[in-house]
Parts: sequence; C-alpha cells; structure tokens
Amino acid sequence: MSTDKPNYQLLEMAKAASITYLENADSLPVSPSKDALALLKDFDEDIPLITNDPIDTLTKLSIIGKDTVVNQGGSRYFGFVNGGILPIGIAARWLADTWDQNAALEVMSPISAKLEAVCERWLVELLNLPRSTKAGLVGGTSVATLCGLAAARNHQYKKMNWDVNEKGLIGAPNLRIIMGEQTHGTVSKMIRLLGFGTQSIELVQSDDQGRILVDSLPPLDSSCILVLQAGNVCSGSFDDFTSLCTKANKSDTWVHIDGAFGLWAESSPLLKHLTAGIELADSWSVDGHKTLNTPYDCGAILCRHPYALIEALQQQGSYIEYSESRDNMIYTPDMSRRARGIDLWACMHHLGRQGIVDLIEKLHNGAKYLALHLSAAGFFIENEIHFNQVIVHAGNDDLTKKILNTLQKNGVIWCGSAIWKGKFIIRLSVCSWQTNEEDLAKTVEEFKRTIE
Ligand SMILES: Cc1ncc(COP(=O)(O)O)c(C=O)c1O
Repeated sequence: MSTDKPNYQLLEMAKAASITYLENADSLPVSPSKDALALLKDFDEDIPLITNDPIDTLTKLSIIGKDTVVNQGGSRYFGFVNGGILPIGIAARWLADTWDQNAALEVMSPISAKLEAVCERWLVELLNLPRSTKAGLVGGTSVATLCGLAAARNHQYKKMNWDVNEKGLIGAPNLRIIMGEQTHGTVSKMIRLLGFGTQSIELVQSDDQGRILVDSLPPLDSSCILVLQAGNVCSGSFDDFTSLCTKANKSDTWVHIDGAFGLWAESSPLLKHLTAGIELADSWSVDGHKTLNTPYDCGAILCRHPYALIEALQQQGSYIEYSESRDNMIYTPDMSRRARGIDLWACMHHLGRQGIVDLIEKLHNGAKYLALHLSAAGFFIENEIHFNQVIVHAGNDDLTKKILNTLQKNGVIWCGSAIWKGKFIIRLSVCSWQTNEEDLAKTVEEFKRTIE
C-alpha cells in the first residue's frame, strides 16, 4: 500500500460517476439486461496478489456497476416496498461516511448522539407517540421488530418474576404470541431468533384486505404479545389499532406494531385515520428507507418503556464509556454502527413536516392513479387503495404471469409478484419521491402494451 499522501481524486471520480448516473437515471432501463448482467462475471477473479491503484479499483467498480445496478432510485421502480432516495440523503451520507463516525457512543461521535436524539424527538412528534418513547436507529424494520419483541419478551417475563436475561428460556413460563395470518414474514423470523418456536404463535384470521378480524382475537392475558401491522406488504391495509389495542391494554398484553412503511400515515392529516390508536401500543417499528426515501440501512425501533428496551439491549464492558446524555448503542443490538442518524436527520430537516406530508400523500395519490387507470384499461384491482400499494391481476394466473414477464423484460417499469388469497398477483408499490404523473401514465401504457 502506498504511503504517499492520499489521493482524493478518487472522491472526485466517485462524485462525477454518481452525478452522471443520477442525471441519466430516467433514461436507463429500470432493471439490467441479461447482456449487462454478464459483466458481473468480471468480479469472479482471485484476490489480487498485489495492491491495485485505487483509481483502477474504482474504475472497475464504476464501469461494471453503472450497467448492472437495478435502477431503484428512479421513478418507475415499483418493486417490493423499496423507497427512492432523496439527494439530500445521498449527500448527507457521503459526508457522514467521509467523517467515518462510529455512532455507538457519544464519546465516539457527539454529532451522532445529538442527531439521533433529535431524530427520536421528531419521530415521536410526527408519529404522535407517547412522550416517554425512546428510539433506536437500526438497519431496518426487521431488526427494529427484533428489538421491540426482545423488549416485550423481557417485560412480560419480568411480570412473571422470570428474569430472562439471567435465566434464559429453558424452563421459562409460557408466553403467547398473537398475530394476524397476514403478518410480514420478518416477524416470525425474529420470533424464532428470540428462542420461541413458531408453535408459540397463535394466528388470527384476517379479512379480504389482510386486516386482523377483531372478533377473532383470542382471549388475551398478561402473558401475551400482540403483533399488529400498519401497512400490509401487498394490500397496504392497516389493522384496527383502537379496537385491538384497547382489548390488549385491558389485559396487560404488550402490543408491537410493525409499521415498516405505513406508520408514516400518522403524519398526514388525510391519512391519519389509518393509524388511529397507534399511540396505545408499546412498541413500533418503522423504516426511513421506504416511505421517507432515506438511503438504505435506516430503520427505527420506538418503545414507550425505555427501561424494557435498554434492559434487553444494553451491554457491559469496562472499556465502554457511557455518557451522561445519549449513547445510541443502548437502544440497538449492535455496538459499532454507521451514523445513520445523520442522513435520517438530513432528510427530515430538508423535507420538514409539510414536505413529509406532501411526500406521503404523493405516494398515496400515485397508487390511486394506477388503480383507477389500470382498472379502466381492463385489469382487476384486488385491494382498496389504503396507502401506496396496488394489487393487480389479469383475471387468471397464467395471463397475469405472462404480463408480469413482459413488463419485467421490457424494462420500462419494474414490479414484482406475490400470492394473494390464493391468486398470482402483480404488486405495485408507489414509493419514490420522483414518480410523477408522466411516470404513472407511462406505467399504465406499459401494462396496456402487454395485452395489445
Ligand atoms: C410490513 C413490513 N414489515 C417488515 C418489512 C421488512 O423491512 P426491512 O426490509 O426494512 O427489514 C417489510 C418490508 O417490506 C414490510 O413491508
């Protein structure tokens, strides 16, 4: 490795390549062609024996990367619930990475401690959560749910005089986990990681939109954890939080809400009826990298019982210097961590309350537009447009599959599929700040082209 003065020309190169990519993103295919993907083979080499010039390394990355990435940040990507990316998020992340901040402890990064505290306050205000709520910034909703359920587990066991941190789960009293049959797959994964078999889960029936049927809820007691959902991954529907949380609170059940993308509805006057009652829950998970369009690796666990979260996640070590104010790592499973609070703060600071409302309502209106115009074009829309998700099909599975294949091959838009109530369906998630009416019209035209 060279001991010469570092060559920061690299950063100029990365900047130029990034700007060129972003400026041309609109005219690039949404997903890479087979020919382009063949370039990835060039990475299949042995570890270089000698040091490469970093300029050569970056050049190789940039040349192969620009043609092989999926253009998710563009305006016609409707796959999964993958949010777009705000330029301020990219810029703030560049700076945070350049500063090489480890956001674990205040002593390591005072700016990260401060900005995570500010993000916590702003999230609590925007989502109208109880003032005692603490936030841990994690990689995404999967990990946020793990944290929320870990806090729930410890809290519920504590009431049974069982210290799970000390005694573990062998011989522990029974704990019941109750959730809707349409709960996102990450929840049962995290339940398994926490040492509970899926046999501990009691599934509750849901309606045609994927919402828990309130009357089907089993009797609850203080050994229960109830998992609810703000935003079904296919239909975008929301559970009836007021009714369900009221029942849960009467029996001292812990309620966790998976609000990966939907929890943001609370900040919009137009959509907050969807999240009515969320403040009655105990913990919530939410992403920045979906609805808010922050860069990836941005989720939050929010918990109204700080001690429960901290007891589940805090670690010891004589070399760890805790501060008098905020040490981010006590609210998360990891220690060394990216300064994700910096880019989350930057996105919220840039958008402001009104910008966040406008973004959320734009995504919702985009989904309504697609549902209306696809339906007028003869496609079937299987869900009510609660939020930003649209379920489309063509009347039978074979035809729907054929249409999806054509759409994906043509590369003008990208959307994925799922099985919904036994049917093969196409899922559209309107999740980018860049998707405008022209993109939506083009999307409808693309669908129409497949049946001409
Ligand atoms: C409802 C719901 N929960 C959890 C997740 C997982 O979130 P993440 O990918 O941020 O871990 C998703 C992802 O789409 C989701 O829609």
